[in-house]
Amino acid sequence: MFVRACRRRPVPHTPVWYMRQAGRSLPEYLRVREGVPMLEACARPDMIVEITLQPVRRYAVDAAIFFSDIVVPLKAIGVDLDIKPGVGPVIADPIRDKAAVERLRRLTPDDVPFTTEAIRGLVGELGSTPLIGFAGAPFTLASYLIEGGPSKNHDHTKAMMYGEPELWAELMDRLADMTIDYLKVQIEAGASAIQLFDSWVGAVGPQDYQESVLPHSRKIFDAIESLGVPRIHFGVATGELLGLMGEAGADVVGVDWRVPLDEAVHRVEPGKALQGNLDPAILFAPWEVVEQRARDILARGRTAEGHIFNLGHGVLPSTDPDVLARLTDLVHEASAER
Ligand code: CP3
Repeated sequence: MFVRACRRRPVPHTPVWYMRQAGRSLPEYLRVREGVPMLEACARPDMIVEITLQPVRRYAVDAAIFFSDIVVPLKAIGVDLDIKPGVGPVIADPIRDKAAVERLRRLTPDDVPFTTEAIRGLVGELGSTPLIGFAGAPFTLASYLIEGGPSKNHDHTKAMMYGEPELWAELMDRLADMTIDYLKVQIEAGASAIQLFDSWVGAVGPQDYQESVLPHSRKIFDAIESLGVPRIHFGVATGELLGLMGEAGADVVGVDWRVPLDEAVHRVEPGKALQGNLDPAILFAPWEVVEQRARDILARGRTAEGHIFNLGHGVLPSTDPDVLARLTDLVHEASAER
């Protein structure tokens, strides 16, 4: 169902999954993770399998997303980093010069044996539910590497992008190659689709996106095209970039809540499906509001060639799992009614 919608084929109901559905808000997740640092959890196949399955059991979503983090492949190629609770990825030595850039290398399957093992195990457990693999896109990874951690303004990142274009291109190219290697590992192990998260690229204007970001993201999409799985491309606050993000080579363009889906249809070239786009904060409003907004998104999503229901960004940590369960049922029922 999910893969069919990605391919813009007819589906009996709109498929639904949630970004960041694994982890964060589930009590069973917090129990499993107790006393285990995030990066350790991401390197343990038993934990990856269990945490990936938890939201599938609870919500009956139409796809699972592999439990990991966008910085896991960076760690695997030797970047000294940690994921700090409540903060996010923190890099010990931010990458700001040529020597540091040149230390970034390609990834081999031997760098991430736990990824292969976990995905093989998951594919068996999931049966007909597809598994989405993922990676961070070069811009978003570059931002963490250059800033040294989460950033609001991406000062150092933009300083390099605008001021040292050759070094920037070299960094982005190396990140693209590593990401290609990493996505191939996931697809070869059995992932049915992949999502490239360029979460923070909305900080860049269209012209700079086109010149300094798009070629590198395109390299990734082109390199995995022959592997034949749908490719989803998502970022936050990317209203002005939606067309270009589609052009980069995605089959599905993810939309946050700032652009209505029927408007996004006009911004993205024909031949793409859309994914989105309920504001995750709407889940804190009374159920009647959630229902009305979800129905509105389904109606607008019908103007797209294919629609996968999702939030406009990740599930917020204090979200009530029961609301997500109810929303999943609503999407299935309301989209099958017509
Ligand atoms: O559905 C899922 O949650 C699957 C697993 C997943 C995680 N991170 C687990 C995680 C996925 C798909 C990601 C992607 C990710 N990581 C993105 C892109 C998606 C997005 O939200 O835009 C980004 C930008 C990151 C970087 C990152 N990692 C941040 C900003 C944070 C800290 C903030 C937070 O969410 O708590 C992390 C840590 C992280 N990644 C946690 C989890 C479950 C929390 C770990 C902890 O604190 O113990």
